[in-house]
Amino acid sequence: MESLNQVLLHKNSRVGPDMNAWLAHNGGDGLEIALLEPSTIIEIIKKAGLRGLGGSGFPTHQKWTMLAKQTQSKEKYLICNANEDEPGTFKDGILLEETPHQLIEGAMIAALATGVNRIVFYINPDLEDAIINVQRAVKQWEESELYFKVSDYIKQPLTFSVLPTSGHYIGGEETAAIETVENKFPFPRRKPPFPAEKGVNGCPTLINNIETLCNVPHILKNGAQWYQNLGLCDACGTKIYSLSGDVLSPGAYELPMGTSLSELINTYGGGMLLNKKFKAVFTGGPSNTLLTPKDLDVPLDFDSVAARRSSLGTGAMIVISEGTGIVKRVAEYVNFFAHSSCGQCPPCKTGSYYIAMLLNKIDTGQGRRTDLDALINLCEILPGSGRCALINGAVKVLESSLYHFMGEYEQSLKD
Ligand SMILES: Cc1cc2nc3c(=O)[nH]c(=O)nc-3n(C[C@H](O)[C@H](O)[C@H](O)COP(=O)(O)O)c2cc1C
Ligand code: SF4
Repeated sequence: MESLNQVLLHKNSRVGPDMNAWLAHNGGDGLEIALLEPSTIIEIIKKAGLRGLGGSGFPTHQKWTMLAKQTQSKEKYLICNANEDEPGTFKDGILLEETPHQLIEGAMIAALATGVNRIVFYINPDLEDAIINVQRAVKQWEESELYFKVSDYIKQPLTFSVLPTSGHYIGGEETAAIETVENKFPFPRRKPPFPAEKGVNGCPTLINNIETLCNVPHILKNGAQWYQNLGLCDACGTKIYSLSGDVLSPGAYELPMGTSLSELINTYGGGMLLNKKFKAVFTGGPSNTLLTPKDLDVPLDFDSVAARRSSLGTGAMIVISEGTGIVKRVAEYVNFFAHSSCGQCPPCKTGSYYIAMLLNKIDTGQGRRTDLDALINLCEILPGSGRCALINGAVKVLESSLYHFMGEYEQSLKD
């Protein structure tokens, strides 16, 4: 059994693309167990409390159930989402490079549970080593006895494809991923219909982040209760936190879900760089509400972070220290979102560019009170105006920085 606080990044999992090494470390056991009674898999995932680790925290069993119910279609797709382009998030690349087999096994268990017959590994093109490793690993699975057992159960050959994404941040949004798999530009689609009803080529499609899927073989192997117990308090399992910014030891840390922000920064991150004072953290990537010193005690799990009106998101924590200008940092992130907007929804395209322009103006000392007022107004008008959540993310980080650091904005004004 794995150590308490490391499952996905445990040294036994880090066997690279060699399938024999994976099997020698009890890899494949989760899938063997799943094959004994495929109809119970979703119930086990539900009991374990697994939630989507790609940002939303949506209960995994609910998505899987929706897909399993789609019995009319001959084809069903699973997109294993490793677009990973949000600033500060760097966990999926590590998982793919070092432990591709646990992802493939998790994806095959998802296929058994839901009747998926086409699995797409959807990977950021900058993760070149990851793409090579997954390609190698997939070839070995295609010749394995376990592969034929799964194909027999779903009554058709399971197909794998490894698809480098378009390299756009927006391509990580689930319906944009579907467009990319269909060889189109990643324009997010209007919902409904939801991907579980109508996804790739009109077929039911499941989209999961790869960290979510990497947990699955371990849950099947060790049981739902084991997974639940890995988390602290009411949280289940583990989370890989991508810790970066002004800490001594930045890195990807797999820890019990619910580890406190202070413990992540001080115990694992080695504390603040140059002993500076902690100022804030951009949580879950920069598309969320900031956490500040009064939140250092917050347990980093979906519900506890939401109770502080923020979001765990991808688990990225970008730490900043006293002395870091908040206007400049927020301007950088909003510029990123403006640049990433796909342009389909005019309020998102023009709104994100406009707030980026106002922020740049204030940051360079050219802003006036009316510019600040315009920013505040846009925070009320823009949320919900787009087809996807990109514009909401850009506004959330701006709004939160205005709430916590209005003084800095005011000091930067020309008048
Ligand atoms: C702008 C935008 C970018 C996203 N990028 C990613 C991404 O790179 N990887 C990812 O897994 N999910 C990303 N998501 C979330 C996906 O839409 C989807 O919720 C997720 O892949 C579902 O997997 P999960 O349920 O396992 O978390 C993004 C969402 C938005 C709005
Ligand atoms: S909200 Fe923005 S990124 Fe999302 S679909 Fe509309 S224009 Fe594209």
